[in-house]
Amino acid sequence: MVERSASTAPANAHRGAAATSTRVIAVANQKGGVGKTTTTINLATAMAATKKSVLILDLDPQGNASTSLGLEAAQRAVTSYHVLLGEVSLGEAVQETGIPGLALVPADSNLYGADIELVDMARRETRLKEALAGAVGAFDYVLIDCPPSLTLLTLNALVAADSVMVPLQCEFLALEGISHLIKTIEAVRKGFNPGLDLQGIVLTMFDKRNNLSDQVAADVREFFGDKVYKTVIPRNVRVSEAPSHGKPVLIYDHKCSGAEAYIHLASEVLKRERDMRAGA
Ligand SMILES: Nc1ncnc2c1ncn2[C@@H]1O[C@H](COP(=O)(O)OP(=O)(O)OP(=O)(O)O)[C@@H](O)[C@H]1O
Ligand SMILES: [Mg+2]
Repeated sequence: MVERSASTAPANAHRGAAATSTRVIAVANQKGGVGKTTTTINLATAMAATKKSVLILDLDPQGNASTSLGLEAAQRAVTSYHVLLGEVSLGEAVQETGIPGLALVPADSNLYGADIELVDMARRETRLKEALAGAVGAFDYVLIDCPPSLTLLTLNALVAADSVMVPLQCEFLALEGISHLIKTIEAVRKGFNPGLDLQGIVLTMFDKRNNLSDQVAADVREFFGDKVYKTVIPRNVRVSEAPSHGKPVLIYDHKCSGAEAYIHLASEVLKRERDMRAGA
């Protein structure tokens, strides 16, 4: 499904004129399995459907975003690892996804090494920011799929980002650990990136038959107020099936409840981004 981009320019020429400014959103939560990758892929696809040009940057050594978009291992010769280490430019790592307006920088397990290799390098926290600066102008949005950790990979994403989106699974102890993420965001603001916004918190895998989901959603809304999106992503089997077909759920089954929720989420996110731009 994914094809290597023939040129080094971001592969969105069909979108017309290059975007004048690019917003970078890091999708982060150090907790595993909360819906980061699912949200990155489906939000990006829903944004692309509204004629935005969107780049997904897979920054997780698990490479789940790349796999979920149908990318074979053989198509990962150039990845975000090479971008981070400065071996290639961002443009050289960008691939077409086959979905109009949606491009991808893939990842694979080499990225596990980057966390260690970066430790001794100069400007280790700002490498992704520098790499993005050279080539993002042609995209309206870059969504970074972060790994389930707060190590240097996620730190690079937070330093490079304009805003952070936090997926939170509607389950017991959902709020556990989020204070650590919020503290990390604060530290990044102080040290590297004063303009970093919390884009919002998205409740994922909501199960309406389960009272606990309601309780968790109420607790999170009480704690974070307006920062929590009105849209809630339901637990939906079609969402979990889509990755094995190498497709976003919006392409796999655009009428299912999960796809509809991600379309609503995209319009909320785009509205917030417009407001943030206006306030900047
Ligand atoms: N709304 C949903 N309904 C049903 N299943 C879902 C939904 N969202 C995510 N899943 C499934 O839950 C699992 C975890 O989701 P996902 O991979 O997006 O989480 P993650 O936070 O990226 O995980 P990791 O921390 O390992 O990167 C996956 O198998 C995914 O298909
Ligand atoms: Mg993931």
